[in-house]
Amino acid sequence: MFCFFPFFCFFFSFLAQNTVPNMAYPLSTSSRWIVDENGQRVKLACVNWPSHLQPVVAEGLSKQPVDAVAKKIVEMGFNCVRLTWALDLMTNETLANNVTVRQSFQSFGLKDDIVGFQTNNPSIIDISLIEAFKKVTLAFEFDQQGS
Ligand SMILES: *[C@@H]1O[C@H](CO)[C@@H](O)[C@H](O)[C@H]1NC(C)=O
Ligand SMILES: *[C@@H]1O[C@H](CO)[C@@H](O)[C@H](O)[C@H]1NC(C)=O
Repeated sequence: MFCFFPFFCFFFSFLAQNTVPNMAYPLSTSSRWIVDENGQRVKLACVNWPSHLQPVVAEGLSKQPVDAVAKKIVEMGFNCVRLTWALDLMTNETLANNVTVRQSFQSFGLKDDIVGFQTNNPSIIDISLIEAFKKVTLAFEFDQQGS
């Protein structure tokens, strides 16, 4: 049970109006540059958000609501997130679909985190680990539309 999950990263970029005003999706590459749909060069400013540690849940969500974290990242001028994920989340369907955030924390005895998570992210605590992962990425889409 106490293994270290091999992990990978999921990069996603989002519209941060203060850094890249008119970024048009999708992004692609042109020679050595990253460009948007209109061929305009795009500079990515990425932040790392670990989600591959043993509970397989993005870190910090027992301390802050996911939307507040997303908003803070945008306010700090980042336009890209490197969200790490455990390989087990993609290879073990039982882990991904049949284990909730609460159950995962329970299995590691993380009682304080359950209390904090319940307070800060009540809509995420009883959904599956894969759905929780998706919610973190969706927080940025919501922020794009909302700002
Ligand atoms: C998940 O649980 C349901 C019932 O709770 C079961 O039918 C299903 O086979 C399980 N899926 C996996 C991948 O373990
Ligand atoms: C998949 O995840 C479940 C739930 O955490 C675990 O019980 C099972 O041992 C895992 N299977 C493999 C092959 O690691």
